[in-house]
Amino acid sequence: MHTDFIGFSLIKMYSRSVISTLVIVLIALFSSYQSVAQDAAAGGGDAAKGKELFSTLCQQCHAVTDEKVIGPGLKGITKRRDTAWLLKWVKNPQAVISSGDAYATALYAKFQPLVMQSFPDLSDDDIKNILAHIDASAAPAPAAGPATGGAVAATATPASESPSGLFTAVLVALLVVMLLVLGVLLVLVTILSKAVGPTTGEGGQATPFLQRLKTSLGAAASNSTLRSIVLWLFVFVVTKQTFDGLYSVGVSQGYAPKQPIAFSHKLHAGQYQVNCNYCHTSVYKGKIATIPSANICMNCHGEIKRESPEIQKIYKAIETDTPIEWVRVHNLPDLAYFNHAQHTNVGQVQCQTCHGEIEKMEVVEQRSSLTMGWCIDCHRKTEVATKDNAYYDKLVALHKKGSKEPLRVANIGGLECSKCHY
Ligand code: HEC
Ligand code: HEC
Ligand code: HEC
Ligand code: HEC
Ligand code: HEC
Ligand code: HEC
Repeated sequence: MHTDFIGFSLIKMYSRSVISTLVIVLIALFSSYQSVAQDAAAGGGDAAKGKELFSTLCQQCHAVTDEKVIGPGLKGITKRRDTAWLLKWVKNPQAVISSGDAYATALYAKFQPLVMQSFPDLSDDDIKNILAHIDASAAPAPAAGPATGGAVAATATPASESPSGLFTAVLVALLVVMLLVLGVLLVLVTILSKAVGPTTGEGGQATPFLQRLKTSLGAAASNSTLRSIVLWLFVFVVTKQTFDGLYSVGVSQGYAPKQPIAFSHKLHAGQYQVNCNYCHTSVYKGKIATIPSANICMNCHGEIKRESPEIQKIYKAIETDTPIEWVRVHNLPDLAYFNHAQHTNVGQVQCQTCHGEIEKMEVVEQRSSLTMGWCIDCHRKTEVATKDNAYYDKLVALHKKGSKEPLRVANIGGLECSKCHY
């Protein structure tokens, strides 16, 4: 079959370039996916003194707005009460109540059986700093609620919600579009070849449209460039899948099991800004972060939402003395040693850097791969937080003599097998 119609060959050229674009897009997307796969959120900023105190000591029970959490909202507190009263109150609420102070007695009656704990160790300045923070937070519009002053700042990673989901969607959409374009071009080719093609033989409209289309498709299939492109594409996809499969043996990134109680970090750590270490009590002190016992829940749920069936499960666990069987999400193999305090306290790495934005998760999901490569990669890149840590002074001085590079975790033994392997 031969035609010298210009439009015809133009369209043929078009189809070819559409196919090659398809290939390029696919390859580009596959390789870019590799780099998106790891998410790492950068660390937060320095909060003012009062804000820090408030978030560690008061936030689990108080909001800086009008909102009642466990205790009353503290907005406008410095107008309701004078500083002398507030200093006495925060240091020892019980003493103020038993002194017969009318305001305190009424407050106590209103919040019974909840009582505020004492803070005898706070200095006057500490408390004044906290009050200043409350006043400062009240200044902007009330709409700027809990969402703004996030407990731990973390920058969002683009498409961090689910890179693989987004990627697949884009890929599928692109494929569909490309295939549609290709289809249209093929149809055009057939129509044109029917219009201008050689009408030799049985004359006129002898060959039906469908048969023409078949012939064109057949021609496309026997086109060697097209065939080799399809072949290469196939090989590429299969290899990619195989390698990905091999690399992800034992990797459970994205694992988000259903938990026995519908506990939400988004609600507790996000909306109510309860500090991570209020529940994960040893995360700054020990090797493991610990999962809270039912008693910690009861600090609040002794009162809050008692009637909810989910909360009833906590009561049941306590009554029957059976621990809640939370499903473990993150789990390194026994051969590896990981210590939280070393990272959160000494290294000052934010929870979110490794765990993603937990405070936005309804259900906890494993965001990082937790592979050896992941640990090593960070140790190569991350500078040791040596500032204000006398322990490192000598080491830093020594390191500076030998190198212009900053002191990284790799330099203090972060790549030694025995540090991470028993
Ligand atoms: C365990 C929960 C809890 C913690 C933690 C807590 N409070 Fe309270 N707070 C309460 C409760 C409950 C009340 C209501 C009075 C009562 O029943 O004792 C209250 C009352 C107050 C009041 C009086 C409010 C009013 O409207 O007059 C102030 C001021 C206050 N708290 C400040 C603080 C500060 C500052 C901190 C942190 C250093 C703090 N609280 C930590 C539970 C708590
Ligand atoms: C009110 C208590 C509470 C607070 C506050 C809290 N968590 Fe949790 N966290 C839990 C409970 C309960 C679980 C186990 C159930 C689950 O996985 O949701 C858990 C599970 C986790 C896990 C997964 C543990 C595993 O099995 O691998 C991580 C990671 C985590 N929390 C991080 C955080 C971070 C980061 C914060 C602060 C932004 C935080 N949590 C604040 C109660 C809390
Ligand atoms: C510092 C206080 C505090 C602690 C500690 C706490 N919660 Fe909560 N929890 C809340 C508040 C506030 C709400 C929201 C109540 C509302 O929606 O009115 C809530 C809501 C819930 C809900 C949703 C209930 C429903 O039916 O809407 C569940 C489930 C829950 N918490 C489970 C837990 C578990 C499990 C723990 C212990 C690991 C825990 N909470 C510890 C304050 C707390
Ligand atoms: C340097 C990375 C890193 C940082 C930073 C980090 N974690 Fe983890 N976290 C891990 C790893 C790895 C595991 C799995 C540990 C294991 O299986 O032995 C884990 C496990 C957990 C668990 C499950 C229980 C446990 O201890 O095994 C909780 C809860 C948790 N982390 C909370 C937190 C909180 C809260 C913070 C911030 C205060 C935090 N993590 C900071 C890497 C990190
Ligand atoms: C986000 C970065 C980051 C990740 C991911 C990370 N680390 Fe670290 N790691 C650090 C920093 C920072 C220090 C330095 C703390 C210090 O100053 O001692 C450190 C220190 C260590 C040390 C002590 C090294 C020494 O010589 O004192 C060990 C052991 C360790 N990490 C194990 C692990 C393991 C195991 C993993 C993976 C499961 C891991 N780390 C993942 C940042 C990270
Ligand atoms: C920064 C911490 C760290 C250092 C340093 C480190 N590893 Fe690992 N290694 C790990 C972690 C975490 C795992 C588990 C990874 C996983 O589950 O995928 C692991 C896994 C392994 C495994 C695979 C075991 C298996 O089940 O697949 C071997 C083998 C291994 N490491 C050997 C070494 C050797 C040899 C060195 C020294 C050259 C070394 N590691 C240094 C953290 C480390």
